[in-house]
Amino acid sequence: MSFDLVLFGGTGDLSWRKLMPALFQAFKHGTLPEGARIIGVGRDDLSDERYRALILSRFDQVDLAKRPSADEFARFSSLLEFVSMDLSKPEHYTYLRDKLAQRQADTVVMYLATAPTLFTTIVEQLSAAGLNTPQTRVVLEKPLGHDLASNRAINHSVGQVFSENQVFRIDHYLGKPAVQNLFALRFGNALFEPLWRREHIANIQITIAEELGVEKRGAFYETTGALRDMVQNHALQLLCAIGMEPPINSHADAIRDEKLKVLRSLKPWTSETLTQDVIRGQYGAGAIGGAAVAAYRDELGVNPASSTETFVALRTEISNWRWAGVPFYIRTGKRLAGRDARIVVNFRPTPHAIFNSQIGMANQLVINLQPKDGLELHLLAQGQDNRKNSHTLAPVQLDLDFDKRFGQERVGAYERLLLDVIDGRLNLFVRSDEQEEAWRWVEPILTHWQADTLGPRPYASGTWGPSATSAMIARDGFCWSEEC
Ligand code: BG6
Repeated sequence: MSFDLVLFGGTGDLSWRKLMPALFQAFKHGTLPEGARIIGVGRDDLSDERYRALILSRFDQVDLAKRPSADEFARFSSLLEFVSMDLSKPEHYTYLRDKLAQRQADTVVMYLATAPTLFTTIVEQLSAAGLNTPQTRVVLEKPLGHDLASNRAINHSVGQVFSENQVFRIDHYLGKPAVQNLFALRFGNALFEPLWRREHIANIQITIAEELGVEKRGAFYETTGALRDMVQNHALQLLCAIGMEPPINSHADAIRDEKLKVLRSLKPWTSETLTQDVIRGQYGAGAIGGAAVAAYRDELGVNPASSTETFVALRTEISNWRWAGVPFYIRTGKRLAGRDARIVVNFRPTPHAIFNSQIGMANQLVINLQPKDGLELHLLAQGQDNRKNSHTLAPVQLDLDFDKRFGQERVGAYERLLLDVIDGRLNLFVRSDEQEEAWRWVEPILTHWQADTLGPRPYASGTWGPSATSAMIARDGFCWSEEC
């Protein structure tokens, strides 16, 4: 099968950091179809050779183990071409059309890794140039809009040009191996399903912590913030994967229907919950791994008086029969104490304690997404038998390290999702109604913050965020997993 991938934003941050390394891995694993061609699109006037050299130079920032050897890069780079385009000029799309027509590839993927404000222009121009053929798929990177209205406007203009099954809205968290394993754990095993409900689960905690700051994306981040960047998409998708009902089959719409139901069941905000159950923070100076780092307000491209949040913690509930009354806590932020993404399912304690040592203890299932992906099941076992007190229970843990079990060379999130686009599999992509529902739910938070003059709470880089985050969860009688 021949295929052309047209990468709008081909000289942008996402292309260097995620897409090119993922395409190279797919090439190395032999999973890119024969006859693949990757056409980077950008404003700069670059020859193919210069583009290849630029990409090679950016591979320096990729994990050592994932960098290509000279020979590997020479073979990979023969797939790369570059087209300079002003995205508002129709004649540039005509040029692109003629270039694509020379080959007539079986599948053409238009990957929109640009600012979302350009999505409407690009799809309209693609249509005007006749580039919305049935063989074409379009990939839309997040954030898809800035709020519900802009998200709807983008979905509407894309829907005028492409049918829903040609549209791949990417959320790379869905491509992470740990999230795939969460689906496998829940729907491939009978063991947990009977326990997966309010009768047995006390609370669920979703943490996506990053050590990185905003890096060179200060200007973008200023108008985005953590709620739009991480909660509206990644964190809510994880919440859906944890909270959804078993789908009737593994088809894309069966899965997406169930996720949509979760989003629709999220408890609506009230002025009380908006004040008590949502915390925003902004990092100040501090230290990460022993090295001093600057405050957010001192980052390049950031307003020195910025009120953009780099941290959000919130408490919500899924109002349905399975989950009523079970708190779901979400927490995400930049410049936190570690790179650590995990979902913690805290089970209820036994209804009756026959051992003193079991009081206050309960089982816990931890789904680790990052830095390693794996599962931990925390149990109580008979501790050392010291004769005097032979009923002392000790916490023990069953550990499953998927890297060890399946090997380090497993397919990464972007690689997996790119291959799904090429094969036309939509299971791990977000449907427009899901996305709109997620925006509908976060919008009251944005409105509340606009009117709130207090601004985000400061926290020192290298910590777990504002202290109010611990107070929020303590109100329910719980604690974050690393604090208990
Ligand atoms: C992106 C956000 O979607 O996800 C970034 O825009 C964030 O701000 C990144 O750093 C985190 O992804 P990962 O896979 O590194 O956890």
